[in-house]
This record gives sequence, structure tokens and C-alpha cells, in this order.
Amino acid sequence: MNSQIFSQQVRHRFGRQADHYNGHAKLQRAIAWRLARHCLSLPLPPGPRADLGAGTGLVGQALREQAHQAMPEANAQDNPSLLQVDFCPELLACNPMAKGQGGLLWDLNAGLPREIPQPALLTSSFALQWLDDPIQQLELWCSALRPRGWLALAVPTAGSFPQWHQAAAAAHVPFTGLALPSAKNLIAAARRHLQVPTYQRLRFTQPCGNGLTFLREVRQLGASATRQKPLHPSQLRRLLQHWPAGGTLGWEVVLLVGQRLTP
Ligand SMILES: C[S@@+](CC[C@H](N)C(=O)[O-])C[C@H]1O[C@@H](n2cnc3c(N)ncnc32)[C@H](O)[C@@H]1O
Repeated sequence: MNSQIFSQQVRHRFGRQADHYNGHAKLQRAIAWRLARHCLSLPLPPGPRADLGAGTGLVGQALREQAHQAMPEANAQDNPSLLQVDFCPELLACNPMAKGQGGLLWDLNAGLPREIPQPALLTSSFALQWLDDPIQQLELWCSALRPRGWLALAVPTAGSFPQWHQAAAAAHVPFTGLALPSAKNLIAAARRHLQVPTYQRLRFTQPCGNGLTFLREVRQLGASATRQKPLHPSQLRRLLQHWPAGGTLGWEVVLLVGQRLTP
């Protein structure tokens, strides 16, 4: 599928479901909280900070909440907030941190926006995989950081959904999920530019009923865009027949935090 059409599909589907995103984004919320915990104690240089593919603002809000818990007496101004960058206006409209100057509508397939020159902190959670060339964009993000600037990233990887891949193979139907970057390529790209003191490959399982429950959940989240042709109803029936009974679905998520040392 043409990358522009795919990108429009991503934006449209997230936009249509924007009001429901937070209610369904349980794993995303948990990861945002974890990522924020890693950011809290980073020795950040001064400079712009942004959350890329910020959506409804789960990362920024987790950071703000944890900073407040750590130092309740601190002034909000002491802790400059993250610019909320996303190309989906409906999601940004649901993002309390994107009000006024706090949000920026921007398509990350076009690189980083001018508004964050030499960032001191870039965060991004569950967004990089939607871009046309995740590894190329990751390298660009890393190399845009100012010296001593930090990247805190979480991305679901190709190690996710083994049960779905197996069911598709057994049913002789194509796997129609989004192609995800491999953990190996993600860490290699980050290490070309950054020193990476934190690198985790996290594994989670979620109940997925008979498969249809999971596919509905993905749709409700707005995350159903894919580059593959949708399955024909008869193919879908076959896929569901091969879905493991009493099923759980596995996710692999890379979480990495790295610092740019050289100019
Ligand atoms: C699964 S959501 C994650 C949102 C948020 N980071 C979180 O953890 O809840 C993926 C986000 O990436 C954004 N996104 C996808 N492709 C994008 C692009 N090309 N440019 C900017 N944002 C994009 C979507 O609009 C959506 O907000």
C-alpha cells in the first residue's frame, strides 16, 4: 500500500476512536508510566523537550504526575513540559497537555519539526512503529539530540503476537497485523548514536478470547490500520478456527533510554 494512503488510514482510524483511546489503552498506559519513571531522574541539559506521537498524552501526564509525587512542593514551571507532537488532531484534542502552545500537529514521516531544534529530551511510546521507516526515523531522532540530550523510547517489536502469526500460518492466510521493527534493529540503530544505559525487552501477555475479541479491541483503540489487504470473511473464519483456545496474546516491547554524547 502506498505510504501516503497508509498514513491517512492511521490518522483517520486513531481519529475516529480518539474519545475511546484512554479507556482501551491499558498496556500503553502501563508502558507510559514505566517510561516516565526512567525519565524522572535523567540529568537533562536545558533545551526543548517533546513527546513524539504523543496522542492523548499518556507519557507527558505520567511524567508530570511522577514529578509531582517526587517533589510535591515544586513549581510546575520548574519542570518544563513536553511538547505534544502528533499528526492526529482528534487525539491531540483529547490531550490536556496539548492545549494552547503545548501541542503541535506534525507528521513525523517528514522528520522532526523545526519547533524542537536540538532537543534535550525526546520521548516516544508506541508510536515509532507507525512510521514508514521506523529505523531511519529513529536514527534521525537520535542524531537530532543535543550533546548530553536523552531519548526515552518504547516500541512494540516483531517478537509480538507469536500466537497470531502461528494461527495465520496454520490457517494458510496472510498475517494482516502491522509489520513491527525487530528489537535487534532498534537497539543497533540507537547504539550507532547513543550510549544506552537502559535497554529492556519486556514481555507481556493479554487475554484475547477467541481472537475476535482481540481484533475488536485493536479496532476500538484506533490501532487497526495495516498495509495488508484485509482478510476475506472466509479467511477470517479459518484464522479464528486456528486461534489457540482460551487464548492469550504475547507482546514484546523494547524500552530503551539513551544519551547522545558526541556533538
Ligand atoms: C498507539 S498511539 C500511542 C500514543 C501515545 N504515545 C501513548 O503511549 O498512548 C500511536 C500514536 O502515534 C501517532 N502517529 C502515528 N503515525 C504518526 C505520524 N506519521 N506522525 C505523527 N504521529 C503519528 C498516532 O496519531 C497516535 O497518537
